[in-house]
This record gives sequence, C-alpha cells and structure tokens, in this order.
Amino acid sequence: MTHLFINIKELIQVRDASVKKISGKEMNILPSIKNAFLLVKDGLIYDYGKMSDLHGSSFDKKTDCTDKMILPTWCDSHTHIVYAGNREQEFVDRINGLSYEEIANNGGGILNSAKKLQATTEDDLYNQSAKRLEEVIALGTGAIEIKSGYGLTVSSELKMLRVIKKLKENYDLPIKATFLGAHAIPKEFKNNKDGYLNLIIDEMLPQITKENLADFIDIFCEVGYFSVDDTDRILSAGKKYGLIPKTHVNQFNSIGGIEISTKHNALSVDHLEVLSENDLEVLKNSETMPVALPSCSYFLSIPYTPARKIIDNDLALALATDYNPGSTPSGNMNFVVATACIKMKMTPNEAINAATINGAYAMNLIEKVGSITKGKLANFFITKEIPSYNVIPYSFGNNQIESVYLKGKKVSN
Ligand code: NIG
Ligand code: FE
Repeated sequence: MTHLFINIKELIQVRDASVKKISGKEMNILPSIKNAFLLVKDGLIYDYGKMSDLHGSSFDKKTDCTDKMILPTWCDSHTHIVYAGNREQEFVDRINGLSYEEIANNGGGILNSAKKLQATTEDDLYNQSAKRLEEVIALGTGAIEIKSGYGLTVSSELKMLRVIKKLKENYDLPIKATFLGAHAIPKEFKNNKDGYLNLIIDEMLPQITKENLADFIDIFCEVGYFSVDDTDRILSAGKKYGLIPKTHVNQFNSIGGIEISTKHNALSVDHLEVLSENDLEVLKNSETMPVALPSCSYFLSIPYTPARKIIDNDLALALATDYNPGSTPSGNMNFVVATACIKMKMTPNEAINAATINGAYAMNLIEKVGSITKGKLANFFITKEIPSYNVIPYSFGNNQIESVYLKGKKVSN
C-alpha cells in the first residue's frame, strides 16, 4: 500500500538516519523542505522531497496538504498513564494551601494512587489507560514510554506492567515499559525501606523479567523517597536483568542522583528542576539525555528545568509530559512544547527537536521514530492550515493538529 502526500507547505524535521540526538546550538536548527511531497509505503517513510522533484511516482492513495504542514509525531519519553482514578481532591487541597510534600506525608500522593490501583482489576485498569493513550495519540503522540510504580506490591506492579504489555499489543505506536517499583515506600515498609528494596530486587525483578514485561528500570531518587545508595542498588540490580536505567532525579533537591545515574550509563535523567553546577559538569561527560517535564512544573508551581543553561552548555535536552494523576494530569505534548517556549525560553526549533528526535533517543527508539527519515515508521501529523510552525507553541492551549498517522494509517482527525 502506497500513500502520497502532496503540496505540503513545509515538511518538518527531515533528517538523515545517522542523526541520533541533537545538542547545544544545533538544537536551534530544524531542517525542513518547503512545498514538499511525502511517500509512505507499507507503514514506513519511503521517500520525500520537493514537489518539483516528484516525477511520475505510482501510488494507491493521494492526499493534498495545501497550506498544511507535516511533523513527525511527538515522542513522549516519560509518562505514568497506567493509573486508577484521579487525585483531584489533592489538587483542591493544594489550592487551599497544602504542599505536594505535605499531602504525600499525610498518606496522599503516590500511596493514594497505589491504594486505588491495588483495588482495581486488570481489565478496568487497561480500559482507563487505553482511553488516556487514545487521547494523547489524537494530540499527536506517536511513541510513548509508560512506567509502573503505582502498584508497590508484587502482584500490583505485575498488573501494571501486564497492562502496558497489552497496550503494546493493541496499539500501533512504539511503547516502552519502565519498571518503577522504587517510586515510593509502601506503608507496610514505612520503617523498613531495605525490606522493600529487597522485595523489588528478589521478587519483583525476577518475575518481571521472566515475563519480559519491562525495557527500563527507574527509581525516584529524592529526599523522603530513595537515596543515592538505594539508586545505586536498584540500578545495579535492574542492569543484571538487562534493564536500562532511566531515573527521576533533582525534582526538589540535588542529592547526587544525576551522578549515580550517569555512572550507570542511564539513558535519561528526568525532572532536573533543581540543577547544580556539578550536575551540569557530570552531564557533559555522559551520553545520558536530560529530560525536562514543564507541565509538571506548571501544575505544581515548582521551578522549571533550566533549559537555557543546559542547552547553552552544549548539552542535549528532551521534553516529555510526565502524565500522571499527582503532579501532571495532562498528556498534551503540544502544551509541553508551548510551555517550554513560554516559560523556559526555548525557541520553537529547540522545543520541537526536544519533543521529537531527542525524545526518541530517551526511549532507545531513534531507529524508528523522531524524524522524517527514510525507513522510519510513518508516524506523523498533518497540521491545520497555519502560516508557520511557530504557531504550534504560540497558540498554546489550542490544537493545531488536523490528523494523526501511525504506521501510515490515519488514526485520528
Ligand atoms: O514524576 N516524582 C515522582 N513521580 C511522579 C509523580 C507521582 C505522583 O504524584 O503520583 C512524577 O512527577
Ligand atoms: Fe514521573
């Protein structure tokens, strides 16, 4: 099956297959072809170029994109979309003056979500999560990472990861699964953190890897959650089972989480709302992708990740949603890109690079998604009629996407 898209006002993020991630000044360059065609064959990007170079190509279907642009779908490298119920009462409590930390200390937060998830059947959890996945696909997401971490018992962590596996089987976008057993210390282990770490290492990890349920291992390295030593232990254990580290670090405090993550060659370090000079130096000597989650900062009113400092130090940066019931109940990558421009002073070019190709790197999916490249999946979206792609972040909160394609198939409009 071949599908030809013609008269594309601008085909954006056109890259050679050799490009793996974009850093520093290069992030402000977004390669594109004006007045372009795109040819899709059997779910893959087969060819593209200027309309003037299109000569007698054969095709089964043709779509005219006059005045519209095409971008590769967003790569959301950090989400927790498998969860049960919501925490809107905590949202109201925060408006009334309680902090995120105080709510967590009162038994709310992650433990509140864990209680709800433990009481939810696998089928119900799947249905709730599939609905969220469909919503974010319609908003232009075409590759996604999903974490466990609201189970916090052997059976409930397995339940979450089996739901992710089912989503992988039933949807046409690449999905990566992350085991985040070390997301919070369950109530039963309140005074026995090591007991919980042992449970993760001795019971959860072997079962999860036996069923092949995870690609990555994650931990929330933060004051009141897990220490740098705990992080070292969990990442070492995960690696023994073939899982690649990705971590939650520096959300509220810089305690050495970045250093230990890079020592373990983490694929990404995520959050980074608080970043020391030493953290920056450590990142410069690594291949680890820093990931910013601006809609988390927006929702919790905490500092934004210092994107300018990161990029101006010649580092790469990816953007993701962190979609979860507590700190970011939104999976809209368009809003993430807009917020990165408005609040973190990233240019639209930088933000689009961060939300596509660098997001793909942060999921080990660079061979498949993140750019318009021959041989990659035909995962892209067609915009409405817009004068320039800068309108995507400029018109924050509005949707400039007309239709979304996954593996060359139209899945939403
Ligand atoms: O990435 N920071 C840790 N975990 C999530 C929030 C979890 C929650 O509040 O439910 C995050 O922001
Ligand atoms: Fe998170």
